[in-house]
Amino acid sequence: MESMGQLKRTHKCNDLGISDLNNEVTLMGWVLRRRDHGGVIFIDLRDRWGITQVVFNPEHNSEVHAKAHGLRNEWVLAIRGTVMERPEGMENDKLKTGQIEVMVNNLRILNKSRTPPFPLDEVTEVSENLRLKYRYLDLRRPGMADNLLLRHQACQAVRTYLNDNDFLEIETPVLTKSTPEGARDYLVPSRVNAGRFYALPQSPQLFKQILMVAGMDRYYQIVKCFRDEDLRADRQPEFTQIDMELSFVDEEDIYLVAEGLVANLFRATRNVDITTPFPRMTYNEAMERFGCDKPDTRFGLELTSLTEIVRDCSFKVFRSVVEKGGLVKSINAKGCAAFSRKVLDDLTAYVAPFGAKGLAWVKMKAAGEWQSPIAKFFTGEERARMTEALEAKEGDLLFFVADTPEIVHQALAELRLELARRLDLLDSDTFNFLWITEFPLLEYDHEQKRHTAVHHPFTAPCEEDMELLESDPGKVRSRAYDLVLNGSEVGGGSLRIHRKDVQDKAFKALGISSEEAAEKFDFLLNALEHGAPPHGGIAFGLDRLMMILAGRDSIRDVIAFPKTQRATCPLTEAPGRVNRKQLTELYLRPDRQDED
Ligand code: AMO
Ligand code: AMP
Repeated sequence: MESMGQLKRTHKCNDLGISDLNNEVTLMGWVLRRRDHGGVIFIDLRDRWGITQVVFNPEHNSEVHAKAHGLRNEWVLAIRGTVMERPEGMENDKLKTGQIEVMVNNLRILNKSRTPPFPLDEVTEVSENLRLKYRYLDLRRPGMADNLLLRHQACQAVRTYLNDNDFLEIETPVLTKSTPEGARDYLVPSRVNAGRFYALPQSPQLFKQILMVAGMDRYYQIVKCFRDEDLRADRQPEFTQIDMELSFVDEEDIYLVAEGLVANLFRATRNVDITTPFPRMTYNEAMERFGCDKPDTRFGLELTSLTEIVRDCSFKVFRSVVEKGGLVKSINAKGCAAFSRKVLDDLTAYVAPFGAKGLAWVKMKAAGEWQSPIAKFFTGEERARMTEALEAKEGDLLFFVADTPEIVHQALAELRLELARRLDLLDSDTFNFLWITEFPLLEYDHEQKRHTAVHHPFTAPCEEDMELLESDPGKVRSRAYDLVLNGSEVGGGSLRIHRKDVQDKAFKALGISSEEAAEKFDFLLNALEHGAPPHGGIAFGLDRLMMILAGRDSIRDVIAFPKTQRATCPLTEAPGRVNRKQLTELYLRPDRQDED
């Protein structure tokens, strides 16, 4: 066979078209599939950019054709050949290179491959574990590589936008001290400091505040954060934030920058125009209308309170809940009266894990008549008032939950989402952004029997509520905000406390003693006493944004090497065991670990 000499790729697999006819080209890539058509062998050659059909014809070159018989999926090839127009009727309009094929003159096998453990197409369902173990194959599948490209474009857009807005990209340490974002820390034992530990940052929160004290004015970083918490589809133990902090600003300045950033990102990646400014809703209104602080506003199905109407009704379940200070709320599922008994039972079972002790329902018949196991417990007037409050019409289906506010809200918020899924109301091409504002500063933790910070302990209280900090801490509103996109919390931040006296008060309300505060955050408190400017910031969850942009259900699909639900990496088998010597060096006793 003719030597191919110094092989140089001339084109990528999506490059060639009619304008290249009769040219001699060299392509390199992987065998996507091989078809043997009675003598002529066709190979779809794939690289990151696309697919080109290459042809081995025995009449054109019998030696090369013979060699092509041995080729298998995912082998790595270099081919040199001539660009030919596809015979009439053989064109493929779905493929960018679908008008041409390359008649192969030379073939070099650059590498062979074992048979892949799963087909590298988009349709085959492959277990997550297998996908992660062979991530390099999974990422060759269509879609997955697109996600990484999209993420790359998003990061580029973020950098460009923030650079244009005078931000400095500054790195902060990974080996550091605990930052209180509310999750468990990942700890790293120190070899040179017996018995001491670094914590991996849950966020760069304290460093970015200190950078403001340092006069940097506008900081950003696309940064890994680490949180040892229970994993879900939208949570990873290490995830990426677009993190920023600004000096001499109020909420409006931060909303403006954040909205600009998001709008730019959507334009650069998906060419979608996002309308700004984003709508805003207070935390209280969100809880009232949607039962949660990250409402998906792509559809209705809002919650209606019936507590006042049923206060004196004869349905004991509802009445006693109201007597104990609980709530009765309802969702009107418009036009769903045809739901079967089985669906109603399924929905009742669906809300049970969220604490709902039942799910009462009413099917609306003609003339406002109720068909329901609980209809008999209400007077005609009560039924009429509820029908009116819910704007219920013939053919509607009403759901009720009675319980503590927490349970009612959580159960109905989850029911609302489940109904939207069943009714196919979740359009993945609609992007509904929403600011949630006026979060409570503190929430009462019944287990720890004290208040904890809803956001983090450095969040500034609303000026008007400052007095309540000592008298009624649970009532204090904070200057924190979340950014919600289609029901997902994609960002959060706040104006910070920049004065030591206010920070001391906040710690006091949180039940953090001055000794504890000094031990944990002395460096920050010191910094606040050295001319800290007023400042605030926000961090976006890049993985969540990308998940939504890519139209995926899991953030694992937009991360090159994610962890499983059990926080393991099937590819590297991390976390791994270490030997006794390593442990002793780190002043850790090996007794609780099996030895290799
Ligand atoms: P917060 O804790 O709200 O704020 O985090 C900001 C955003 O990060 C994303 N996020 C996560 N994404 C994937 N997996 C996780 N485990 C995970 N945890 C959080 C969310 C969230 O909105 N320092 C503050 C920001 C600030 O005050 O400026 C902070 O970290 O999308
Ligand atoms: P029962 O009288 O217990 O058979 O309940 C009658 C209906 O009320 C059933 O459909 C239950 O699912 C529903 N139900 C019971 N407890 C609650 C509750 N706390 N909230 C809403 N519905 C309930």
